[in-house]
Amino acid sequence: MSSQDIPEENLPAAQDHAHGSVKVADEENPFADPGLPPHEHRIQDLDERAAKRSERTVALLFTVSMLATVGFIASFVAIPVDKSVYIWPLGHISALNFALGMTLGVALFAIGAGAVHWARTLMSDEEVADERHAIEADAETRAKVHADFKQGAKESVIGRRKLIRNTMLGALTLVPLSGVVLLRDLGPLPGTSLRHTMWSKGKLLVNMNTNEPLRPADVAVGSLTFAKPEGLEEHDEGFMNEIAKAALMIIRLEPDAIKDKRELEWSHEGIVAYSKICTHVGCPISLYEQQTHHALCPCHQSTFDLADGARVIFGPAGHALPQLRIGVNDEGYLEALGDFDEPVGPSFWERG
Ligand code: FES
Repeated sequence: MSSQDIPEENLPAAQDHAHGSVKVADEENPFADPGLPPHEHRIQDLDERAAKRSERTVALLFTVSMLATVGFIASFVAIPVDKSVYIWPLGHISALNFALGMTLGVALFAIGAGAVHWARTLMSDEEVADERHAIEADAETRAKVHADFKQGAKESVIGRRKLIRNTMLGALTLVPLSGVVLLRDLGPLPGTSLRHTMWSKGKLLVNMNTNEPLRPADVAVGSLTFAKPEGLEEHDEGFMNEIAKAALMIIRLEPDAIKDKRELEWSHEGIVAYSKICTHVGCPISLYEQQTHHALCPCHQSTFDLADGARVIFGPAGHALPQLRIGVNDEGYLEALGDFDEPVGPSFWERG
């Protein structure tokens, strides 16, 4: 059915006065405004049954989106991560990835297709020509925008076509859930795991490079040595997690240069041990300046004064580096005298 098939008396009044007519190109002024072509009504403007069909199509697309989102969540919960499926021509691929991709793709596509179909068949399609005007929002313009907005809302028929409105709201409400369920892939919360490291009373300090227990004589004034707890080997399960918490910087200072009283008590003959993990966002600290006793984090330049309790003297870190209390055992090796007394790493873990 085309607009030509509609009896003339059924045509809306708007068709009686076209917005303009196509003009023959002006040979003297080829840039003259040719005007708008006559407005043509769509079948949905003229036949309520056609409009109803469009409404049902839009509602169906929004409903498909909702079902696809439910399928996305169900796939995420039900399909094992290691299950594979054969898809021609891709071959064997992860069934979970395939299901998530397909369902999320369908959910988003159906919302877009529904919105496009709604706009093309049911929303007002009257052509409008607007003259250029100064770009300033005076009171009159704002009032006009407000009125246009209300008119647009009215012409979108969202108030009258409740089926579209309700299914669209359902689809738009469900789609963000896809992102929420994916939060599970961020892994478990750290809980209290950062409050405890492998350090405990009597654990020897082992040089990370040589894998040998450290004696005081191995640590020269001005040098920077990295250490780990004895018994932590690279091939151990969970090595990376443990070393990320327990890694130490060992520095020897002149005892007179140590300004912080507790730091001095927790040291041995000027040898101090601090966490190597920056208290900003956890980069490993790797630079040490002998003259100033400053340790520098290469990530965002936080600087810690190791002669003054490792307090922050520059940069975004919000907390001094945790110090490990050390001593020497009967055999002359450097040992820990307990665990850190505060969490290592970014200081926001300590909140609460
Ligand atoms: S992680 Fe060290 S300064 Fe940002």
